[in-house]
Amino acid sequence: MKTLIVFYSLEGNTKIIADILAEELDSECIELKPDKEIPKGGFTKFLWGGKSVLFHEKPTLTNEFPDIDEYDTIFIGTPIWASSYTPPIASFLEKVSIRGKKIALFACHAGGGAEKCFEKLKSQLNDNQIIGTITFTDPGKEEREKIKAQLKHWLHEIT
Ligand SMILES: Cc1cc2nc3c(=O)[nH]c(=O)nc-3n(C[C@H](O)[C@H](O)[C@H](O)COP(=O)(O)O)c2cc1C
Repeated sequence: MKTLIVFYSLEGNTKIIADILAEELDSECIELKPDKEIPKGGFTKFLWGGKSVLFHEKPTLTNEFPDIDEYDTIFIGTPIWASSYTPPIASFLEKVSIRGKKIALFACHAGGGAEKCFEKLKSQLNDNQIIGTITFTDPGKEEREKIKAQLKHWLHEIT
């Protein structure tokens, strides 16, 4: 059985984590791409992103997904927006039925909201076994080797 990594990243932090995980696990990795991306940078992203979380928006994704039955473990990664997971993750969870899997959650944030975000994800994924969670604050500012070591340690604990 195989492992799949699915993540969304607006500004690259969550992608750093997903890329290292894909390398360490030698697994497939899908970056969720909404058909209309919110503006990056500046303050507008907070308005657009905050609104999309509050209104429970589920943007159309341009991705194609493999048969989820082929995988027994799925890593799901998201930036934290308004103490929640991002709308593209909501779209993914609606589009793909995930049951009976081992699930590991990773998130990037700027200082808060991870607990609430994971609670919400866990309740969306309640037919699965959550094997672990990990968070990072601005990993783009850290040395890659340091992040890699943290991830290796985490993977050793959960797999
Ligand atoms: C719309 C929006 C809402 C955010 N809300 C939070 C939040 O509630 N808590 C927090 O710590 N960071 C928040 N952030 C910061 C991001 O979680 C953080 O910058 C993260 O590293 C971005 O990941 P990315 O580079 O993969 O997009 C928010 C960012 C945006 C754009």
